[in-house]
Amino acid sequence: MGDPNNISPAGEGRFSHKKLERNVSLLGFFALIAVAIGGIVEIAPLFWIKSTVEKVDGMRPYTPLELAGRNIYMREGCYTCHSQMIRPFRDEVERYGHYSLAAESMYDHPFQWGSKRTGPDLARVGGRYSDEWHVQHLVDPQSVVPESIMPPYAFLAERDLKAGDMKNDLTALSRVGVPYTKEAIAAANDDLQAQADPSIDGSEVAARYPKAQIRDFDGNPNRLTEMDALVAYLQMLGTLVDVDKAQPQQVAASADSAKGDK
Ligand code: HEC
Repeated sequence: MGDPNNISPAGEGRFSHKKLERNVSLLGFFALIAVAIGGIVEIAPLFWIKSTVEKVDGMRPYTPLELAGRNIYMREGCYTCHSQMIRPFRDEVERYGHYSLAAESMYDHPFQWGSKRTGPDLARVGGRYSDEWHVQHLVDPQSVVPESIMPPYAFLAERDLKAGDMKNDLTALSRVGVPYTKEAIAAANDDLQAQADPSIDGSEVAARYPKAQIRDFDGNPNRLTEMDALVAYLQMLGTLVDVDKAQPQQVAASADSAKGDK
């Protein structure tokens, strides 16, 4: 039988695997090369494709008023209790509606996904309740949902919306890829007013931002309050994309999960 160490005569060439396994630096070097090849195959294409998010019809950037509402949403930390991401599971789809599509948060900076749900997911809360309901609920949650542990935000109805110069917000977002046009940025402050003030013609806002909801939101048409902005934001969530027409394969998947085995 000869030398018991010599079990693999074939591996005895100039570059045997045994050598590699016994030399930690050499092994490290080649392991690095192997991992780098895997990494390059996965990462390099991302530099050439424009987007990994499939486009869907209807997605548009936020109107200045919705954006101001979103800023309040973040300022008040609503995201510490609410997510905006419906997962493709039957229980979620039945409770909240069609699961969230990647494109629906493509203009969110930062995104509002998450798994921390002290309260319900809000990704499709738009249109589910009336404006009056939202105002009442934010002023005193227990008055509409007696068992609610959500804190009250009554002060939002008392505070004038001081959104600052919305041109800056739109410009900042356009720099990270949100397609605000020059005209939209120039008109940002006017659009902010026009969306919630019934005395101003809102047709330009409607033309610039399809499906924009133009009305007084907080029940007080004489004032533009933080409540107006927040309710405008809540009422548009999940309403832009007609999810049932968005993508045939995704609709099929959600129809399956909704049908289930009832
Ligand atoms: C401490 C956790 C907490 C915080 C913070 C919080 N919420 Fe809630 N929210 C809840 C809970 C719990 C419910 C469910 C009971 C209810 O409807 O009040 C809820 C319900 C809601 C609903 C109704 C959702 C539905 O589908 O019925 C909306 C809208 C909402 N919250 C908006 C907000 C907004 C906007 C903020 C920030 C200004 C906020 N919440 C902050 C806990 C929270």
